[in-house]
Amino acid sequence: MQRILLLECGPYGRQSRGSRLAQELVERLRERHPQAQLVERDLASEPLPALHAAYADALVAQAPGDDPALRLSEQLIGELENSDCLVIATPMHNFTVPAALKLWIDYVLRIGRSFAATESGKVGLLADRPTFVVVSSGGFYRGEQARQPDFLTPYLRHVLSTIGIHDLEFVHLQGLVRGQEHAETMLAQAREQLAFNPYLAAQGEYS
Ligand SMILES: Cc1cc2nc3c(=O)[nH]c(=O)nc-3n(C[C@H](O)[C@H](O)[C@H](O)COP(=O)(O)O)c2cc1C
Repeated sequence: MQRILLLECGPYGRQSRGSRLAQELVERLRERHPQAQLVERDLASEPLPALHAAYADALVAQAPGDDPALRLSEQLIGELENSDCLVIATPMHNFTVPAALKLWIDYVLRIGRSFAATESGKVGLLADRPTFVVVSSGGFYRGEQARQPDFLTPYLRHVLSTIGIHDLEFVHLQGLVRGQEHAETMLAQAREQLAFNPYLAAQGEYS
């Protein structure tokens, strides 16, 4: 593992429980891969610009990568190409990904660049890599206590697989409105789950 890309997507920065877990996860990865560099992109505190017509035109026309309208898209795709591990810390906002992450998706999923359109459907053009998604939410969307739909997990899974990223582990920190004690229980369960992840397993096994 040479380079880890961490996407922070929530408005609370380091105060976010999801972000804390993602940072912990990165630390554990770096214990196993001390040479691994960390590239961090905070999509909430440094939001990407809204899409403009020039970008939409260039995307639809499959303009060459050196088109100035594609500069940011190229930069973001380049960050992904230059990393071999992806960690996403995202809250659930209105049953799906927050707007900050949606914009990143709109710059990174580009026909003819990060995926190809074929007769049998879209095929990813980026290399697969271990990917962790920490989802935090005020309420519940999985399990017996679920009282709302989950458009985040299947959506993000589909988005990432569209560009070739299939090696995914989701971690869910649900019900965070219930207070600190509940949050600590969720964090402990998440750590237990992650202990079984092959990339976080005992040193040497998958390094
Ligand atoms: C605009 C907005 C929309 C939200 N929508 C949902 C939602 O649909 N479902 C839910 O369970 N929580 C929702 N929440 C609560 C957040 O998911 C929660 O505050 C956050 O994930 C807390 O986690 P953190 O400590 O990691 O930041 C919403 C919060 C905001 C600000």
